[in-house]
Amino acid sequence: MKKRILTGDRPTGKLHIGHYFGSLQNRVKLQDEYEQFILVANVQALTDNFDNPGKVRESILELLCDYYAVGIDFEKSTVFIQSEVKQIHEIFVYLSNFVTVQQISHNPTIKTELAQKGMEESTPLGFFMYPVHQAGDILAVNADLVPVGKDQAPMVESCRDLARKFNDTYGVKVLHEPQALFGVEKNVPGIDGNAKMGKSLNNCIYLSDSEEELKAKVMKVYTDPKRIHATDPGTIEGNVAFVYHDLFNENKEEVEELKKRYMAGTVGDVEVKEKLFVAMNKVLGPIREKRREAEGLKDDLLKRALVGSKKVSEIAEGIVDQMKEAMKIKF
Ligand code: TRP
Repeated sequence: MKKRILTGDRPTGKLHIGHYFGSLQNRVKLQDEYEQFILVANVQALTDNFDNPGKVRESILELLCDYYAVGIDFEKSTVFIQSEVKQIHEIFVYLSNFVTVQQISHNPTIKTELAQKGMEESTPLGFFMYPVHQAGDILAVNADLVPVGKDQAPMVESCRDLARKFNDTYGVKVLHEPQALFGVEKNVPGIDGNAKMGKSLNNCIYLSDSEEELKAKVMKVYTDPKRIHATDPGTIEGNVAFVYHDLFNENKEEVEELKKRYMAGTVGDVEVKEKLFVAMNKVLGPIREKRREAEGLKDDLLKRALVGSKKVSEIAEGIVDQMKEAMKIKF
């Protein structure tokens, strides 16, 4: 029996190359080795976008197109929509007895996000509780593994805690403690040199960007600000053009040579960037093509996600039943 994986995204916009190297590329590999479930977390997305439901709704389709474009196979992976699986919300309510407000307020992911969103003084309860709801996502399918980056790792830990406490309290083995699956984390900085790529930072290269948009962005990529002439010795560290070369350029010899010449002051930014564009377009070109194809398949992709949601509901109903039995609320 293949081990089961649960992973997901909040639909709040189009995906960018940070997502590609952070999770998408890995999912394409994982779908062959594991039974993979991919969650479109639209209810979670509403916890900090409840006043903008149109954006969340539209982003579902964008997300499905992005999945298709990078090679997620809707036959191999079960893609599903959170709001279609009512059992997740039910599990969430039952789990909420097993964590304290104080514990959630110490959760590092929540702390960071509240600070980023300026919600420390006035915290919507829905957002505050999302770690518990997210545990519901994971436990609803009995997942063995949850692929995570560093920033979401505390979420898996808190899910394990909740499952253990539930089982211990009722002397049952109903909930399955998942493990975090750490990949090789590849950090993708923004084109402006910011350590993180993010929509609100306006520094993204999207999977849906046209060739022209890609070219224009590559030519704007942050390099070495101290370097004025192509003959000045340049710095590689923190130089986004070279970070991207390392990520995208398959011709490692070319990259090494460019780095040497850059440090020696014998190559200009323009040549580095022109070669970078070629390397990036080689990877992103085929994704762009498939994404264009996906635009015409939106209805079909949504239909498949709804079929996936039904399948997940059935699995989750079994878990809910056992939980209710344990809590003596099954009639
Ligand atoms: N919180 C995740 C994010 O912001 C998305 C998500 C929702 C998720 N439920 C999940 C990830 C369950 C892993 C498992 O990216």
